Amino acid sequence: MKTVLASLSDKRPTADILVAGFFQKEKLHPKLASLDQPFFKLANLALENKRFEGKFSQTFSSYHPENQEASEVILLGLGQKKNYKKLCFRKASAQIAQLGKARKAKRIRILLESFVGGGVTLSEAVSILSEVPSLALYEFDKYKTKKKDEDSKEKKSARPEIIELLLTQNKIPAALNAQIETAHAVAEGINVARDLINEPANVMNPQKLAGEAKELAKKKKIRCEIIGEPELRRLKMGGILAVNQGSRTPAALIVLEYGERFKRNGTICLVGKGVTFDTGGISIKPAKDMEKMKYDMSGAATVIATLGVIADLKLPLHVVGLAPAVENMVAENPQRPGDIIRMYNGKSVEVLNTDAEGRLILADALAYSAKYKPSAIIDLATLTGMCAYTFGDKAIGLMGNDEKLLAKVKKAGAAAGERCWELPLWEEYGEQIKGHHSDLYNIGGPYGGTITAAMFLKEFVPEKTPWAHLDIAGTAWADSSRYDCVKGATGVGVRLLAELLSHWKK
Ligand code: BES
Ligand code: MN
Ligand code: ZN
Repeated sequence: MKTVLASLSDKRPTADILVAGFFQKEKLHPKLASLDQPFFKLANLALENKRFEGKFSQTFSSYHPENQEASEVILLGLGQKKNYKKLCFRKASAQIAQLGKARKAKRIRILLESFVGGGVTLSEAVSILSEVPSLALYEFDKYKTKKKDEDSKEKKSARPEIIELLLTQNKIPAALNAQIETAHAVAEGINVARDLINEPANVMNPQKLAGEAKELAKKKKIRCEIIGEPELRRLKMGGILAVNQGSRTPAALIVLEYGERFKRNGTICLVGKGVTFDTGGISIKPAKDMEKMKYDMSGAATVIATLGVIADLKLPLHVVGLAPAVENMVAENPQRPGDIIRMYNGKSVEVLNTDAEGRLILADALAYSAKYKPSAIIDLATLTGMCAYTFGDKAIGLMGNDEKLLAKVKKAGAAAGERCWELPLWEEYGEQIKGHHSDLYNIGGPYGGTITAAMFLKEFVPEKTPWAHLDIAGTAWADSSRYDCVKGATGVGVRLLAELLSHWKK
């Protein structure tokens, strides 16, 4: 599916549907009159008789096989202009995609300017229409048995191929094409992350995840190094090794690198939790909803996908992605509660609960990032159930050690529609994770679990390095379908990071 721009004066093939927006209590877009005169009359009649009012998501359509523009013209209600925001248009864009799919439309023509107004500019509309349809039509159906009959062929071809944005101006601003490319790259990145996360854990084990990262790196022409178990042992990455101890698949530390070192903007390290399945280990999780724990590598998937996006966008940055990949299993020789392990940075940790494994692998990766002398570190992790209890699926839990970086992340999240909300990392919380026979415990008491998890991570962040931690436990998975995402992995974080890094300044 791709988005193209066209102007009224261009010669255009007939589309399958033409969609125009309509604001409640306003007039029909005047250009509709010349695009399809009979439809224009009908629609005005429908408006007069209140058969169509333009309430949000309401549609009015008519089939005109002889029409040059498109055989079917659809008016899409946008509600009142004063309430019209970017999110409204994101939802409308998803609806356009679904309307097109339902009609097996190949080419969807959109009267772009009819969707502009209220809180949506022309340039925002272009970006949104280049991003949302492919998110809305995303499906993870590779395991559905495909019948080798016509039906499945049709199913394959049911996706729209071209979304044509029709502009009334003759000269199309070149900047719009760049925006389309950016939006396509971001949408692709989000769907790449979703694919990695939705893949079940019997397939997506640590080695497979490493392989996927390698393949993406090759495709996007970025560097990739997989640090395997012998090397992890040599480096003394005690956290990663301990968590993976019960797995039959060797652990890996995935390292992706985009751009050159020592550029003006310094190096940015992105770190993602890659637990391909979290049983909890000996401190085993309850059976209910445990299947969801294949999503426990969402942070890693986001980091891997984001590096691909950055490469597509050719951002003038040096970005290193670090994704420790493990499996937290109950097996013959897993780690035990009470085990004391030595981490990469030399600190000792008493593992009071083997289900608090994410922080153990992130700790090693965070400490290892010192090698790159980063000017900022951002980690993403499905780290605590408590974060999901606190924010539901409405916000990412944001914590860190640098107000300026946190403000930047928060701003990017708001712009991307992936809101972040800060929790404090006051020193006093550190008391809870002070060890008895060791330097640190891997859990704090029963309260403030999202914060104590971050306090633990903080112990491993290289000194004097700005660091932001994003707990995506509540946002990385959709329990039910939404306008731009079916039930399953959301790919949260990719859009936020793309937004943040596109405007990055040290
Ligand atoms: N992957 C989980 C976090 C999680 C749990 C996300 C439930 C979504 C739903 C993480 O590894 C974990 O198990 N955290 C524990 C920490 C506890 C043992 C201190 C948790 O949140 O229960
Ligand atoms: Mn766990
Ligand atoms: Zn986990």
